Amino acid sequence: MSGFIFSEKQEKEVARIIAKYPFKKSAMLPLLTLVQRDERVVSPDAMVAISKKLDCSPAYVQSVMSFYTMYHTEKVGKYMILFCINISCQLNGCDKLLEHTAKKLGIKVGETTGDEKFTLHREECLADCTRAPMMRVNDTYYGDLTEQRIDQVLDSLD
Ligand code: FES
Repeated sequence: MSGFIFSEKQEKEVARIIAKYPFKKSAMLPLLTLVQRDERVVSPDAMVAISKKLDCSPAYVQSVMSFYTMYHTEKVGKYMILFCINISCQLNGCDKLLEHTAKKLGIKVGETTGDEKFTLHREECLADCTRAPMMRVNDTYYGDLTEQRIDQVLDSLD
């Protein structure tokens, strides 16, 4: 038996999502996104629970999930910071800003703060190169970054 159980609220959302698609498996990414959003991790047990909803194997869920960088098998912080390190952001000083952010949070890239508030990751192009350097915090994009702007953003998050 799976150790992951969808909450009542999640069950309703799962049913609503699956009903939108002609094939159950098409609901894979929205269900992974729902679990990642609510649990901050997609555990092996959650993969089993999703596979049961979609009538497929847990291995199939894992194979889809492993293709995407936004799903995590380790619990991430309340705020996931994705720092673009691609060419436009490189040319506009992202390395120094990433270093500044890591130092401010007291962690290395790839780590989560002790209070589980922030996780810091590198990411490839965030597709908003005209505002480079860019970072994404959960679903919000921040561009034209400076050290001061980063401090302001991170300090404003509770
Ligand atoms: S290179 Fe950073 S947003 Fe495109």
